[in-house]
Amino acid sequence: MIENLSAAADRVKNLAGSPTVSIMDKARRLKAAGMPVVDLSGGDPDFPTAPHVVEAAMAALKSGFTHYTPSAGIPELLQAIAHKLATENGAKFDPKSEIIVFPGAKQALYIATQTLLNPGDEVLLFDPSWVSYAPCVQLAGGLPVYVKMDLQTSLSELKTRLEEAITPRTRLMIINSPNNPSGQVWTQEQVELVAEVAQQANLLVLSDEIYETLVYDGRKAVSIGGLPGMAGRTMIINGLSKSHAMTGWRLGYIAAPAELARQMLKIHQHSTTCAASFVQKAAVAALEGPRDYTDYMVGRYRLRRDKLVSQLNSIPGIKCELPQGAFYAFPNIAGTGLADLDFTDRLLEAEAVAVTPGVAFGPAGKGYVRLSFANADEILDEGAERIRRFVSNL
Ligand SMILES: Cc1ncc(COP(=O)(O)O)c(C=O)c1O
Repeated sequence: MIENLSAAADRVKNLAGSPTVSIMDKARRLKAAGMPVVDLSGGDPDFPTAPHVVEAAMAALKSGFTHYTPSAGIPELLQAIAHKLATENGAKFDPKSEIIVFPGAKQALYIATQTLLNPGDEVLLFDPSWVSYAPCVQLAGGLPVYVKMDLQTSLSELKTRLEEAITPRTRLMIINSPNNPSGQVWTQEQVELVAEVAQQANLLVLSDEIYETLVYDGRKAVSIGGLPGMAGRTMIINGLSKSHAMTGWRLGYIAAPAELARQMLKIHQHSTTCAASFVQKAAVAALEGPRDYTDYMVGRYRLRRDKLVSQLNSIPGIKCELPQGAFYAFPNIAGTGLADLDFTDRLLEAEAVAVTPGVAFGPAGKGYVRLSFANADEILDEGAERIRRFVSNL
């Protein structure tokens, strides 16, 4: 490269890549090179997309629905999303001005943070939290501020931690229940507390509800957007990747107050124009179709969760709580004597098992690793067996 031309902008140079995507890519490369890799790193359902959704996309393609759509999305999809938010989450958003469809929920997060944050704005993230929140905040010039939150956190601790973390520069909180990586599903009281604090401190709340359908043991994910006083300050991000096993289709959305949605739409118009046309038709079929396939997948995930967690807990040095939602086990591996980064590196080298180090999810992830049980039963069994062998050989 010619001198000086290879330097990227500082804000990008300083950004870490996505640890989960890079581990998935590494596992794929090793597999392609003939290594018998067990890849438990990514959050990609092993189930196929439901046939009626695939058929809707094929019908759209065959009918020539292959051109640009309105930037925010096709009216019937925006309407279907508004209906879902109103009936399932109690959150009212105008499909004509308050909902935008993106190629993936990740893109919605990126555009939301670009739209909302001025340099130096502080954003509260609950720790541990998904790998892309902090980088998106930083790319927009904002500062992530971590608030520890786990199953042991009491309501009063949560309140105190929030109050201590809030400063005059705090603009936004990002809440994600069920949580990636811990699987924690926030209780009604916890969500209400966050809503109360947001109102008192006049903060915006971004609620990432991508795992809302993946809850176990009779739990229900509470949407903060449906609570009193939260209209006008809540944005909801969701998508079809996890609920409908549609990761590769790239379809996510945001629902936001009209003025913020209008501003976000400008970035979307200039960066992407619109989500893929025929994928939007498929999304209508997914949202309006029967829920039994999602329920079936959740039932299978629950069985896998129970088995994997008990397998992990039978390995000396590993302790794993039962995740309440999503499809990740997040065991503490500190008892093995290895730091989480060493654990993941050496596990991949010695036993060709790919898992994600906990530190990727924030300071509270130290000493943990994340394993996805969105994988076939035999793969999970093989993974657990190899981890057992790896730990016993340490
Ligand atoms: C918490 C969370 N939000 C959003 C996403 C992004 O989903 P999408 O595939 O729609 O971009 C993920 C994907 O892993 C996630 O874990």
